[in-house]
Amino acid sequence: MKNLPVDSILARRRFLAAGVGAALTPAALARHPGVRSQEPAKERPTMIGSANALAGMKNVWESFRAGGDPLDAVIEVVKVPEANADDLSVGLGGLPDESGHVTLDAACMHGPTHNSGAVGCLQNIMHASEVARLVMERTDHCLLVGQGAYRFARDHGHPHAELLTDRARRIWTAWRERMSESDDRLAPAKKDQKSGMLFDIHGEQVTLEEIIGDKRPTGTIHCSALSTTGEYSSATTTSGLAYKVPGRVGDSPIVGAGLYCDQEAGAAGATGRGESAILSNSSFAMVELMRQGASPEEAGLEVLRRVTRQAQRAAAWQPGMVDGQGRPSFGLHLYAMGLDGATAGVSLKGGGRYAVADLEKGPRHEELVALHP
Ligand code: GLY
Repeated sequence: MKNLPVDSILARRRFLAAGVGAALTPAALARHPGVRSQEPAKERPTMIGSANALAGMKNVWESFRAGGDPLDAVIEVVKVPEANADDLSVGLGGLPDESGHVTLDAACMHGPTHNSGAVGCLQNIMHASEVARLVMERTDHCLLVGQGAYRFARDHGHPHAELLTDRARRIWTAWRERMSESDDRLAPAKKDQKSGMLFDIHGEQVTLEEIIGDKRPTGTIHCSALSTTGEYSSATTTSGLAYKVPGRVGDSPIVGAGLYCDQEAGAAGATGRGESAILSNSSFAMVELMRQGASPEEAGLEVLRRVTRQAQRAAAWQPGMVDGQGRPSFGLHLYAMGLDGATAGVSLKGGGRYAVADLEKGPRHEELVALHP
């Protein structure tokens, strides 16, 4: 029960039953100052997200800029790669854990009600983001995991789906065969190996050898939106780190790590190495820095500086965490949007793009600002 006293739960239920929570119009919210304590930005519809959010942003932009609901919009955006078998890091087609199971993590957060829902380690359901929304709207909980999350999704009519595609299965098999010289699995003889097998990881062409080696995807999609009525919403969804230890849950369903939004301060999200986003509480930290006056870019870069120092400390027992110059050896991309709709995308290391949409230029890719160019 989210550790709320029974009185609070009943009060919240009365609030929802009165129809206020369902309508959430600016006028209704104004009658409940505890729900939003700051006058929102007006008529600056804006979206920000990871590079793979662009296709979905293009789908929803016209209706969103005309006054669409931000939670509807971000869920529609992230559902695109969830259903795309070619995206190896989200939903259908995502790379499996080390035992061959595709397990999904997803969360959404709604600024006006300051509520969230999430699922972790969910199997055989394509649209984990929609299930996260159901957790938020149809339970008094924030996070459901594993078999319970699956049952909950099925109870709400989500169909059972096989998420391991033939392509993902072949990559996972290649990874297993090359894991050890001393087990009984053998990689195909060199003459039988297909050369030039290329995969698109967020716009970057990588080889099979890279994808089962140092470029194993920690993909994910994040999207945050600020509506014409000044309401924020965020969503993040992923199949998580490829070949992870079964049961591993990353940052995506952890509110404050993979996403966060607050009507009083802004919205933020993360993609990349989930453990680092959890350890730095990166999305919450960005929103808090913006609350204190930092711009979205300053907030993102400050969190990446913290992540760098944290990785340097971790390197004492995990040497691969940083390179020869003390820079993190992993990738982490952060996205932030302030109260005025200003946006920034930042990365630990050079290269990469993020998706943004605003009234001036519409949906497009922009370059990430790198902390370590
Ligand atoms: N950021 C996605 C994950 O690490 O699972």
